[in-house]
Amino acid sequence: MSICAACGRENPPDARFCNWCGAAMAAGLVSRERRKTVTVLFCDVAGSTALGERLEPETFRRVMGRYFGVARRLIEDHGGVVEKFIGDAVMAVFGVPAAHEDDALRAVRAAAALRDEIGSLNEGLEAGFGVRLSVRIGVNTGQVVAGTDERLAAGDAVNVAARLEQAAAPGEVIIGPQTWRLVRAAVTAEPLEPLPLKGKSQLVAAYRLLEVGSALDPVARRAGGPFVGRDSELQLLREAFAGVVAQRSCGLVTVAGMAGVGKSRLAAEALRGLEARVLTGRCLPYGQGITYWPVVSMLGQLLDAKRGCAAAAALMAGDVKVAAAISVLLGERAAISSPTEIAWAVRRLFESSADAAPLVVVFDDLQWAEPALLDLVAHIGQFSRDAPILILCLARPELLGPDRSLGGGMANATTVLLQPLEQVATAALIDQLLPRDADVGSRLRAHVQSASAGNPLFVEEMLALISESGGRDHPGAAGGAAGSAPAGGAHRAGLRVGGRGVVPQRHRPHPGTRGTRRARAALGAHPEGSAAP
Ligand SMILES: Nc1ncnc2c1ncn2[C@@H]1O[C@H](COP(=O)(O)OP(=O)(O)O)[C@@H](O)[C@H]1O
Ligand SMILES: [Mg+2]
Repeated sequence: MSICAACGRENPPDARFCNWCGAAMAAGLVSRERRKTVTVLFCDVAGSTALGERLEPETFRRVMGRYFGVARRLIEDHGGVVEKFIGDAVMAVFGVPAAHEDDALRAVRAAAALRDEIGSLNEGLEAGFGVRLSVRIGVNTGQVVAGTDERLAAGDAVNVAARLEQAAAPGEVIIGPQTWRLVRAAVTAEPLEPLPLKGKSQLVAAYRLLEVGSALDPVARRAGGPFVGRDSELQLLREAFAGVVAQRSCGLVTVAGMAGVGKSRLAAEALRGLEARVLTGRCLPYGQGITYWPVVSMLGQLLDAKRGCAAAAALMAGDVKVAAAISVLLGERAAISSPTEIAWAVRRLFESSADAAPLVVVFDDLQWAEPALLDLVAHIGQFSRDAPILILCLARPELLGPDRSLGGGMANATTVLLQPLEQVATAALIDQLLPRDADVGSRLRAHVQSASAGNPLFVEEMLALISESGGRDHPGAAGGAAGSAPAGGAHRAGLRVGGRGVVPQRHRPHPGTRGTRRARAALGAHPEGSAAP
């Protein structure tokens, strides 16, 4: 048995990639060396010395106390740990004691939230004390050696984060090269002049964070390349839909598969053009009060004043019990409602909508669902009657573990285990994603084909990395370079880069970090490799 350093789960001893989260398995890394990839966040208050001189000591302490409180709350909300307070600086770490696949993005989200929330804090401070705070934040990802009690020994990654923070102007968040690589699809950032680092000959690439995309985007959150393969799965989903329509009944299909294998994309493709109302909701990996988050977003779509469903709105207006439970769920009314009442009310709304037109509800990333949400899904599946509803559940395989079953009591439930793409489909995807004029050697192509193991996300990530490095990043690169280098070129041109910026569509990697890590490992790239263009 070996343990995945990223998610901590058990895998067969010879696994090269984690069967649960897809991260590259570095055998023995956890137990022997305790080297960890973490993301470090440094935040300090610009001009706090001057502030200290202007305010009474007691007031100054209160102001700083509020800042520390906000910082700690936001860091912890995003799954980070406050490592220490150094004067007016806060140092936080994401990735210890437990690593998450998206630690870098969590850190960047926390940084953006902190930057923004200081704005609101300032209103109070200005009213109360006539002062404003501004913070400077640096975020950097790299390896550190974890101490015995999982506290960190200082390392390069920590020093770089501190350096980035010092380089930030008040109100700015600056992110380092490794962090940027991991989050670039989810953020908009602009490249800065590379920074010199004390005691280092190489400059460090740095990016000013402008905006972080919402974690709450629905299923089809990006277009990706042309769709390949999956004929039988598409057929299965369409037949399931046709079945619920023909029988005016509820059906439940679970599509399970590892990260990046194509669950969300398959759902988006299967539902395209269907004559149905489609509601989508995504479970979030962390956060507070998110148990029913996907349902809340579905209700938002269903009850939307313009594009929502008239029958559902009518039910809300006419049925006091439904309206009461739903408004508690939506946070519009502070009262207590039991999970059963909520499930019942949601089912009634879904049924009323389906009565008008077939309804498809897509619960994405259900591996992160809390039990109450799974109960709600099961309730709808088991008890809805005389209404064409297709429930489509997308999840990583762990959802199907021994104690988390879905659709157990339902006659009309199917589970599909989404396998990697077939060889031909993978080859087609590689062809489609390469720029038309790319001069890519057959060795490199074959390497991507075999290292991606049929995972389209990994194909996308590897091609993006190859393209970015001009083919240098990889042992098979001798066969030929891989065309243009969009990020580097954009950098030199001083353009905004990132998933919402100018990186060409065809190279756009996935929000989050899951594929990048594995793609880099598969390419044999050094995890600490300098991304300085
Ligand atoms: N059959 C496919 N053909 C082309 N691209 C695909 C296919 N399946 C997935 N992709 C692409 O691979 C990436 C990961 O797919 P996604 O659906 O997000 O995976 P999952 O939901 O299983 O984590 C996306 O960019 C998606 O567009
Ligand atoms: Mg998905």
